[in-house]
Amino acid sequence: MDLINTLNWRYAVKKYDGQKVPQEKLERILEAIGLTATSAGIQPYRLFVINNDQVRQQLARDSFNTQITEASHLIAFTAFETITKEHISDFITFMAKERELPETALDSYKNSLEQHILARTDHENFIWSSQQAYIALGTGMIAAADAKVDATPMEGFDSEKLDTLLNLREKGLKSVLLLALGYRDAEKDFLAHQKKVRLPLNELVTQID
Ligand SMILES: Cc1cc2nc3c(=O)[nH]c(=O)nc-3n(C[C@H](O)[C@H](O)[C@H](O)COP(=O)(O)O)c2cc1C
Repeated sequence: MDLINTLNWRYAVKKYDGQKVPQEKLERILEAIGLTATSAGIQPYRLFVINNDQVRQQLARDSFNTQITEASHLIAFTAFETITKEHISDFITFMAKERELPETALDSYKNSLEQHILARTDHENFIWSSQQAYIALGTGMIAAADAKVDATPMEGFDSEKLDTLLNLREKGLKSVLLLALGYRDAEKDFLAHQKKVRLPLNELVTQID
């Protein structure tokens, strides 16, 4: 299917039919998310595929999003609470290894990252990391649609509760988003046949000549 048809086919599913997404499709969606561009390339977030029913049930208890338990898979997008000198240094070591460079070749890049990132407050860096996670969410939604897998992006959950359930604090992470994956129940989902509501392009986009 062409990209525009695929994006028109995708919608934020409210009701899933219970079918499981095959493992190879899940892996393809995760691989696509991993290829997302991030600011400076540092990937300041981590994903958790929550297969544990108890965790999903506990999380669903305080949320209007029934997809948390009804979808085939649930992915949590979590961002680093702060970015440390060590994060930057690990990233540089990794890049040098991947590109078969001496680490010293990346000294000026490392200095510039330290100067910019470490000058910000922890809160500013958390917002920045979260913004990168939102881009990854976008990739995940498009990759799911490309694999003919339905999805729901979700901000509607108790992030502090999920942080506790997954022990995220001790990993320096905080949850920011969920992505449910599965297959739509086209009969029971009131949104399945509704027209997509989007601004006309001439209102969304201004051409500066
Ligand atoms: C960041 C983000 C958070 C969202 N949170 C929820 C949510 O908690 N529950 C839900 O059912 N839909 C959620 N949505 C879905 C939006 O309501 C939906 O994408 C929007 O209305 C556009 O409709 P469409 O995606 O079906 O085309 C969210 C979407 C985004 C991008």
